[in-house]
Amino acid sequence: MEHTPVLPSKFALPTIFVIFGITGDLVRKKILKALYHLYRKKKLPERFRVYGFSRRDYDDVRLREYLKGIMEKGEYAQPDLYDTFLESFYYVGGDFFSPDAYNHLAEMLGLVDGEWQICSNKLFYLAVPPNAYSDIVTHLHTSGLTKPCSPEEGWTRVILEKPFGTDRKTAIRLDRQLGELFKEEQIYRVDHYLAKETVKNILVFRFSNSFLTPAWNKDYIEKIEVRLLEKVSVRSRGDFYDKVGTLRDVGQNHMLQLLGLFLMDPPSSLDPNEVKKKRSEALASLQIMQEEDVKNQTIRGQFEGYHEVKGVSPQSNTETYFKIKAFSNKKNFEGVPIYLESGKAQGSDLTEVVVTFKESPFCLYSVPGTQKNTLHYHLRPEEKITMNFIAKKPGFTYDVKEHSLGFNYHDAYMDEEFVDDYEALLYDIVRGDQTLFVSTEEIMSEWEFIEPIVTAWQSTGEPGLITYKKGTVIENRL
Ligand code: BG6
Repeated sequence: MEHTPVLPSKFALPTIFVIFGITGDLVRKKILKALYHLYRKKKLPERFRVYGFSRRDYDDVRLREYLKGIMEKGEYAQPDLYDTFLESFYYVGGDFFSPDAYNHLAEMLGLVDGEWQICSNKLFYLAVPPNAYSDIVTHLHTSGLTKPCSPEEGWTRVILEKPFGTDRKTAIRLDRQLGELFKEEQIYRVDHYLAKETVKNILVFRFSNSFLTPAWNKDYIEKIEVRLLEKVSVRSRGDFYDKVGTLRDVGQNHMLQLLGLFLMDPPSSLDPNEVKKKRSEALASLQIMQEEDVKNQTIRGQFEGYHEVKGVSPQSNTETYFKIKAFSNKKNFEGVPIYLESGKAQGSDLTEVVVTFKESPFCLYSVPGTQKNTLHYHLRPEEKITMNFIAKKPGFTYDVKEHSLGFNYHDAYMDEEFVDDYEALLYDIVRGDQTLFVSTEEIMSEWEFIEPIVTAWQSTGEPGLITYKKGTVIENRL
């Protein structure tokens, strides 16, 4: 089948994707599907190849069989395209920590450039555990693999996944190293939440609907709640999870990124640097907690049976649930409580941001305290926005009731094919648009807020860890 590019010509240069960790979890769950959908939708450059790097004793044929197995099991659309898509995949065996492997890779990529008679674009995706980042980026640099031919033609880009460090110190170290080896425009730091359709819509929703503008401040907003509750426990990730905990796994990144979009000031343009600057200012405005605040304004829990999970220490105090009451120093949000709550092994899957507005000063038709509007911005299980309002019940009296206005993405666009998060990210990396990627300033502000909480939990042991039964709700004391 002919594969015609629809990207602007400058982005249609032959592109090589090098994926470190091709046999890992992230490729299996996200990257393979995203690449395939881009291919199907003709959103990849006309000539592209994928070089999968891993330690296994594979060759091209074995890699393609392995990937095809994943596609078949996942029932990806249009099976007739599987084989032609996979013909573009090649295997590079080697140790991430050995310079020889990179020299070998450089030779292979050099041959492809020779065959194509062009200096192709090269994208290096580090889909590996973060402890391998430092060695991989160093070897990429010293082998000359990441040296671009020019910023537009034959560019080279490096893609890293969260977590960026385990605290501020390690994040700074990683950042410094990246800064020494690459230019900022070559570095793409992924937080896949920013690429979710509903999350991308937050900017549009907030800044294209004038009725929201006058109400978006402390005079009208009573509180903001960000929730990411998951039914799943930690599955086979015990070893990783036990070192990290819920706050660092999803709080330091996905949830704060969501919050940033709700707190940020309007950007003056859609320039990626301007959007990132506004997000970053919002994150930097979060009040840093002292030990006493941590004791009074946070809750942490662990589900019963966590110690039996493979890879978890029997004495582990790692949280699998947290709730935090935070505040922003932004003038327009002063004193507005912000709640961040997340947990594994919860009763439901629920990801949402809820903005509660203060009661109307003229509470004519109701019992005071019961007349509040709420805006529910839902990401999961459904992608929708609902606004709760007060209406009169039919009849002779002026009794009131809460109702909701709603917009459901999938109902409204039933015939559209949705773009999933990793698909959007890969598409933007090839186009060179960094809007959906996290800046180093954002990461540092996230750590500045999170680290004192983690440190206080570890050093004071307060508040104590609450044990909860899987699927139950922890009593809310904040
Ligand atoms: C990942 C966390 O970053 O995000 C997981 O490591 C979490 O623990 C996941 O389950 C949530 O992402 P999503 O896209 O499934 O909401």
